Amino acid sequence: MPASSLDSIVSLCKRRGFIFPGSDIYGGLANTWDYGPLGSELKKNVKSAWWNSFVRERQDVVGLDSAILMNPKVWEASGHVTSFNDPLVDCKDCNERFRGDKLLEGKLGVEATAILKLNQVQPMLMAEKIACPNCGKCNWTEAKQFNLMFETHQGVIKGEGDLIYLRPETAQGIFVNFKNVQTTTRMRLPFGVAQIGKAFRNEITPGNFTFRTREFEQMEIEYFVEPGKDADAFEEWKSTVWDWYTGFGISKERLRIREHEKDELSHYSSRTIDIEYEFPWGWGELFGLANRSDYDLSQHQKFSGADLSYTDPDDPKKKILPYVVEPSFGCDRTVLTILLEAYTEEDLGEGDVRTVMKFDPRIAPVSVAVLPLSKKEHLIAKAQELYKKIVHETRLTVDFDVTGSIGKRYRRQDEIGTPKCVTVDFGTLGEDDAQGEKDTVTIRDRDSLEQIRIPITKLIEQLR
Ligand code: GLY
Repeated sequence: MPASSLDSIVSLCKRRGFIFPGSDIYGGLANTWDYGPLGSELKKNVKSAWWNSFVRERQDVVGLDSAILMNPKVWEASGHVTSFNDPLVDCKDCNERFRGDKLLEGKLGVEATAILKLNQVQPMLMAEKIACPNCGKCNWTEAKQFNLMFETHQGVIKGEGDLIYLRPETAQGIFVNFKNVQTTTRMRLPFGVAQIGKAFRNEITPGNFTFRTREFEQMEIEYFVEPGKDADAFEEWKSTVWDWYTGFGISKERLRIREHEKDELSHYSSRTIDIEYEFPWGWGELFGLANRSDYDLSQHQKFSGADLSYTDPDDPKKKILPYVVEPSFGCDRTVLTILLEAYTEEDLGEGDVRTVMKFDPRIAPVSVAVLPLSKKEHLIAKAQELYKKIVHETRLTVDFDVTGSIGKRYRRQDEIGTPKCVTVDFGTLGEDDAQGEKDTVTIRDRDSLEQIRIPITKLIEQLR
């Protein structure tokens, strides 16, 4: 059972050190979040799982890590300077600003709202009597285009010529490096370039915890194909990504595919589908798959003057500008979905409810916890010895916890989703046969609560 409310996840995340409000001691900075010790491990594991699936385990995809700051001409060429806008409306009574389309989605639905023209937003808000979420009045300005790119200045002298942008998508770092990557790797079409990195959008209405933030992380692939082979590649990626998400235990019942209406498409896309997840507040985009055709390479060719065509190795006279299919994953949204899906409250009877995060063991932030039964020095020393052995021989993330009763420690590990606990007791030391034989330990399973006793010599094999 996933979390039915966002509040239960937000509070667990803060309490257990997954995600903290950003700049907390200064009263925060709206909609910024910091991944804590467990959250950073979880996010790292998600990124590694993604990189392994889509880069290391595929011969047709290579990796890249390009700069966040790019020549501003990139964003003129890509169309973001002119077209990367959202409709902004102001409440004339309280002066709060909102995204007009988001205010209408609840009434009209996502699809109908997405195809509204800019000049239809304000009349529709008035016709539907949409109240300002801040003051409750219905008194809206005309909608105007608001560019989502964050501006900054490079260099010591602030002037017009120094204006640059924080990248709003990692994709452009891949397009501008297309030739570098292709010529150095000699990749043949079809091939992909993948990168994980931060992107920034000055969202008018951020919110819903880490779902919509102004600074976020993307995991993107630009998959280059011969023109005419893009439609097939699109279908292949659609099912590959669907399988990837469901393979991590995301329930099919809470996933759906939504095709974008023609009027809703981004300026670079000829076809887009989203994989959406049913979040506690409703369906929201988790992943987007776009057919960018040769839009980006052709724009960069035009604006930079560089030749970005691909020469067919079997026919050097054949030069083509590849088409691009783009699988784009929201990293923070994937982490949030995994948190929501993992959250489970289990009724153990007699009013005893345990909260357990049922993470897939491949991405659990802590894989194993070593728990000495008591704080006796020689027992802790033995447990420490085992802790080091597990870390060195498995490279898993291992926690060591001595504080509180063993029952409380098991519950703490359940709440952070540790798949296995290893308990070291006086039996392990050969001092209490009733607890177990010498040189054996107890392994407790998070989900079944089953406890088995095994010899230390079998421990590593068992954990692996
Ligand atoms: N590169 C696609 C996106 O950022 O939405």
